[in-house]
Amino acid sequence: MSFFDSLFTKKEGSVLGVDIGSSSLKVVQLRREKGQAVLETYGELALGPYAGVQVGQATNLSAEQIAETLKDLLREAKVTTTNCGVSIPFARSLLSLVRLPYRKSQQEQQTIIELEARKYIPVPVSEVQLDWFVVPKMELGGREDEREKDTVEVLIVAVHNDELALLQSVMAGASLAATFYEIEIFSTIRAVVDEPVKPVMILDLGAASTKVYIVEHGVVALSHSIGTGSQDITRAIAVSSDVSLARAEALKKERGLLRDSVSSKNSEVIFSNIFSEARRAMVQYETLHKRAVSSIMLTGGGGVTKELSAYAKQTFSIDVRVANPFAKTAAPAFMRPVLEEIGPEFAVAVGLALRKLEEE
Ligand SMILES: Nc1ncnc2c1ncn2[C@@H]1O[C@H](COP(=O)(O)OP(=O)(O)OP(=O)(O)O)[C@@H](O)[C@H]1O
Ligand SMILES: [Mg+2]
Repeated sequence: MSFFDSLFTKKEGSVLGVDIGSSSLKVVQLRREKGQAVLETYGELALGPYAGVQVGQATNLSAEQIAETLKDLLREAKVTTTNCGVSIPFARSLLSLVRLPYRKSQQEQQTIIELEARKYIPVPVSEVQLDWFVVPKMELGGREDEREKDTVEVLIVAVHNDELALLQSVMAGASLAATFYEIEIFSTIRAVVDEPVKPVMILDLGAASTKVYIVEHGVVALSHSIGTGSQDITRAIAVSSDVSLARAEALKKERGLLRDSVSSKNSEVIFSNIFSEARRAMVQYETLHKRAVSSIMLTGGGGVTKELSAYAKQTFSIDVRVANPFAKTAAPAFMRPVLEEIGPEFAVAVGLALRKLEEE
């Protein structure tokens, strides 16, 4: 970015979060006014039609194709800034919270972390961008026992170079200036997690997959991907009701889990499978750490499903909330009902824009 570019972006003050999902692109534009994040515009565009598949289905497009779609979306949503932050999909990254021996010397600690990281990364370390975060001891809230005194918890993060190259080329193609790329869960936490102490489970119900995270003290303590997503509900409805995928997608959105139709039965079967797997991850975590998960936050397009939070409450028997990331932004009152409804889909994009505002 040139000196003049940064002068320009400073002056206009608007920032953009760009979430590149497998089924759709989402953008959120914010501006800071009197210390508040003001919502300027937002938008979503399905990638399906650009890939010859239905809206709501996952795609695997080239950087050029994604850039073209993104340009259409920027135009449609009347985005006025190029100043942005971009999401990295969890599927293309690696997160591991590990306990390692503590060393006073930073150099020694780094060597230990780098050696350990190699064990978790399934490809040569030269092929990834490696980063880590030493969890401050304080954040453990006195839960350390004697055995853990000489150790530290480290969150190891790796992203494949190919993924970053793809995202950079999308940004160049869409003429956007990205100042950071962030793994989607970190954006989500910023946008929707306010619980500072107790473990919270986030379920990101995407098109192709469901991401399960447990976040404690703002740190991602567990992450897990389930290979089933909302697109599988559409496919199941299409098969069982013998309708087109387009019709099945509409039925899914219309009926959700309202218990009165073949489509809702399909939704229930798939959510029941997803929740069983999420519950296993949760129980494993709770057993290992001897702490109960306090609540569940639903995000992603699947989180918009009608009656999902009631169904999740019944399954997990704990507090379940549907993410409302726009609550962190100022917007006209008449827009609130819509923003609340679509909120789960925009958690990542809002979180990115909030970080970008902090940077300004
Ligand atoms: N109102 C709704 N009811 C039920 N499902 C919905 C609704 N709105 C969107 N979806 C579904 O949510 C999915 C898209 O979710 P989202 O936008 O979070 O996915 P993505 O980010 O593109 O995918 P991924 O996270 O897997 O890469 C689609 O399968 C879509 O059909
Ligand atoms: Mg997503």
